[in-house]
Amino acid sequence: MKLLLAVAALCACVVAVPVPEDKADGVFLKRQLLVLKLLKHIGQPVADPDLVSIKNSYVPLNNLEKYSDPEAVRRCCSYVSTGRSLARNAVFSLFDERHREEMVAVFEALYAARDFDALLGTAVFLRDRLNPRLFLYALSVALLHRRDCRGLTLPPAYEITPHMFLTTDVVRRAYQARMRLKPTIIPMKFTGSVNNPEQRVAYFGEDLGMNSHHQHWHMDFPFWWKPTYDQPKDRKGELFFYMHHQMTARFDAERLSNDLPPVRPLGWYEQIEEGFAPGAMYENGQEFPMRPDRVSFRDLPWLRISSMQAYEDRIRDAIAAGFVRTVRSDTEHAPTGVLYLNETDGINVLGEIIESSRHSVNPLYYGQLHNDAHVLLSKIVDPDQRYGMPPGVMEHFETATRDPAFFRLHKHIDNLFYEHKNRLQPYRREELNFPGVQVEAVKVVGTCKASVPNLLVTYFDETHVDLGNAVESDYKTEVNIKAVVNRLNHEPFRYVITVRSEREVNGLVRIFLAPKLNWFGQQVPLKDLRWSTIELDKFPVKLRVGENVVVRSSEDSSVTIPEPRSFPDLVKDVQAAMRGEQEFALDKYHRHCGFPHRLLLPKGKQEGMPYLLYVTVTDYQRDVVDDKMTPDDIESLTSLSYCGVLEGKIPDRRPLGFPFDRRIESVDEFMTPNSKVIEITIKNAK
Ligand code: CU
Ligand code: CU
Repeated sequence: MKLLLAVAALCACVVAVPVPEDKADGVFLKRQLLVLKLLKHIGQPVADPDLVSIKNSYVPLNNLEKYSDPEAVRRCCSYVSTGRSLARNAVFSLFDERHREEMVAVFEALYAARDFDALLGTAVFLRDRLNPRLFLYALSVALLHRRDCRGLTLPPAYEITPHMFLTTDVVRRAYQARMRLKPTIIPMKFTGSVNNPEQRVAYFGEDLGMNSHHQHWHMDFPFWWKPTYDQPKDRKGELFFYMHHQMTARFDAERLSNDLPPVRPLGWYEQIEEGFAPGAMYENGQEFPMRPDRVSFRDLPWLRISSMQAYEDRIRDAIAAGFVRTVRSDTEHAPTGVLYLNETDGINVLGEIIESSRHSVNPLYYGQLHNDAHVLLSKIVDPDQRYGMPPGVMEHFETATRDPAFFRLHKHIDNLFYEHKNRLQPYRREELNFPGVQVEAVKVVGTCKASVPNLLVTYFDETHVDLGNAVESDYKTEVNIKAVVNRLNHEPFRYVITVRSEREVNGLVRIFLAPKLNWFGQQVPLKDLRWSTIELDKFPVKLRVGENVVVRSSEDSSVTIPEPRSFPDLVKDVQAAMRGEQEFALDKYHRHCGFPHRLLLPKGKQEGMPYLLYVTVTDYQRDVVDDKMTPDDIESLTSLSYCGVLEGKIPDRRPLGFPFDRRIESVDEFMTPNSKVIEITIKNAK
């Protein structure tokens, strides 16, 4: 549960305001358990008696009155009845138009169910008839968006479909353990070897939590989300820019701490120097293709590299001109056929175009640069399908970040957004300042006893991943098989921010981190660091007259989410709550989307790595979108910074990444009294 650590006047005590959480009732617990059962061994037919009885009795087409859109159900069921559905052992790819069409039909049927029972009936009916990963994706998006499923917890993605996250050797050993019925713990290594410098940052790209985050983000903000659905996605295009921008900035910070230069953007006509060997296998036994070093992009039968260049040239032209061409008949966006890339919505329009999503104002003209690039990279070693290779890691959101080419692609995409942001006027002093409010001092303090002020510590720890779903099961015998993985973590810490205020006002605190030195060891001026800043937190504070000491725990970050419960623990906790042995908290604000909290800080160096920590307090009244929204309301919205909100509007009116999203011409002008920069050190403990 999150606590709002508020402020007190004259260095007095800290007030804690708990965000209300409900206790799950019997109905909720039953639903939660059924959903978990539905997700177990997704590739095998259901065996649970409750689900089997639904499977034997519920036919969606006989219950059309139970759906708000009966046509969606007919459309979905026609895939099954006509045998057009994707084969169960085929590899589902969201980027494949035909696969996606079927998945959208399935999602729309699940989403149209009028109540939970109809949803469950539909899901059970479809589960064993469809391609498992296609079904899983559609069901997950439906569960994340249905209002009657708020608060349902999904198990970690890497424990539902472990094949998509683990290496082949681990899966093979899991099978051996299962055959011998022998409980086993299997160590998993990151791919590659020391002969490949890129391997030094594999712990980041291959982090299971990061891959899950990336997958969930794209489930919360699907590029195929239709503007006609009843849940509009506020600033989706801008979030696409910002979340990936932050991932890129983070990757560069990780590279610096491992003595690697910043990642270079790729080019459509340049060789990709770094190969990648995923060492992983799809559940159907096909290996993820390997890309050797120095491979060039090649045309696909339906997509030419020259078209990618043409789309990109048009996008660059739009950025330089400051407006995009819309489809002329699109009266909603711009009757004149022109939409200006202004200071507020411009970045959102551009994000939708570049991704591109169903919200792009002109997909025919601007193409789908980012999505197509993922496919080009995925199929780069077998573009003509001469060898029948399955899609590469770049074609799935849960596997893409493993490949260093992911970050090279996103640096390239990020540079387009950079060009747009660079065209905007730097913030004027009055836009940055908060008159009457002064940040006097900032420090960070570790919560461990021996902590030294302004010294933060990262380290690697180990965690166990349940492999129950990596192997087939007879549903009678359970064998405890786990993988043990290394992952980056950090010691918890607190920000202590001293703020003097002339009035009783509310403020918004924004905290960023940036590496102080570049790869050459040179100090970088703040104005040049802006695009490398990493957001650590954003939260409201109530300021009293006089000196306020704001204390904020790192664990309450608006960027991150806590470690998820493992699949077996989740099942055990629900069952124990059903027996009345313990409570199961129902948090309707629970988000699956968010950066794993462990990764809040980039890895330090053993000898310490200098970082700049920037803190600003801006005017809450001026920044907040809805005056009725209280600071406590904002505090209850988790993982706001990268994931926006589930419904409604993002409460912060400022552009994502403010104030570092625009050029800084003069640091003196930029550093208003309501902000402060300090130097801190991040050390990696061995
Ligand atoms: Cu992505
Ligand atoms: Cu991407």
